[in-house]
Amino acid sequence: MRPVLSAPVVLGAGGRLGRVVESLLAALEPATVGATRTEIDITDYFRLREEFERFEPTLVINCAALADVDRCEAEPELAMLVNAEGAGNVARACRESGARLIQISTDCVFAGDGGAPHAEEDLPAPGSRYGMSKWEGEKRALQLCPGALVVRTSWLYGPSEGDFVERTLEIAGREGWVGGVVDQIASPTYTPDLAQALVDLARAGADGVAHFTNTGACTRHQFALRIVAMAGVAGGLTEKPQRWSELGRRAPRPANSMLSSARFTALASRTPRPWEEALAEHLAARARAGPARRGETPRRSSEPPRRPGGGAGRARP
Ligand SMILES: NC(=O)c1ccc[n+]([C@@H]2O[C@H](COP(=O)([O-])OP(=O)(O)OC[C@H]3O[C@@H](n4cnc5c(N)ncnc54)[C@H](OP(=O)(O)O)[C@@H]3O)[C@@H](O)[C@H]2O)c1
Repeated sequence: MRPVLSAPVVLGAGGRLGRVVESLLAALEPATVGATRTEIDITDYFRLREEFERFEPTLVINCAALADVDRCEAEPELAMLVNAEGAGNVARACRESGARLIQISTDCVFAGDGGAPHAEEDLPAPGSRYGMSKWEGEKRALQLCPGALVVRTSWLYGPSEGDFVERTLEIAGREGWVGGVVDQIASPTYTPDLAQALVDLARAGADGVAHFTNTGACTRHQFALRIVAMAGVAGGLTEKPQRWSELGRRAPRPANSMLSSARFTALASRTPRPWEEALAEHLAARARAGPARRGETPRRSSEPPRRPGGGAGRARP
């Protein structure tokens, strides 16, 4: 049997998480294939099958999703098409090609009541169309691909444009205030830490459901305050803590979406690092990169070129 990391495929490789996962895997295994939406659309089952026949993946990490929670509320059919049917297509194609599957999911599958971190066995009860479509995607992944692993996570940020860290710093710099809601609590999670966790879980042969976040938790407002303080722009800023209901957003979010990473700790024999430590590393890397590089995921020279013209990933050796 081929080692699980010998031919990995990352779907949704143009996104915030997918780019970082592809970058890490490519550094470990030059045969890694990263496919953006234009290269492999997960709603096209036949395209998936064709590409999997070509690449013969050992592992598929599905980072592709409609992850804009408010857009999912406005376009629920599209949310189901991508997050549920798309995930099901990937699972079927993995089963048929013999690849292991890691399906990425979200804290938004939980209603968000109670004050304790959610364990994997807790029953989901999503309050948004996004959460419903992602939960349906989880079920299809587990039903259609024996041995699949669903990894739930929360509040992602990293070397990407437009995430909460970037928006907070932009508003602080441009308008001189720091916001964030006070009535939602979860764990900010650094995408490079999640990417490493996915590699660890794949190596451990984990299946079923596992949660991974950085440890500790905070409100969005506390997160925003730490971002500006650690980035050294706190002086003279006006604090504007808000309540979720004041923002007028379309989709509800869970009030408490803390996730317990205890199963991950048992499987990987290590504890995720605290969210403040990961944030400090990210802000230091961001400062070193300078303004021109912010928002870019560095691409290593070992990474395979994406083939132009719609063909996904590396050429067959
Ligand atoms: N962001 C968070 O805070 C967060 C929290 C918890 C869990 N998650 C989960 O983490 C995963 C990654 O999220 P992310 O933050 O990286 O989202 P993202 O930046 O929006 O990335 C998702 C990627 O999927 C692609 N995509 C959309 N429809 C597709 C399709 N039909 N076929 C193939 N690719 C498609 C998108 O391409 P286009 O941009 O070209 O449409 C995008 O590149 C998702 O499963 C999400 O539910 C995210």
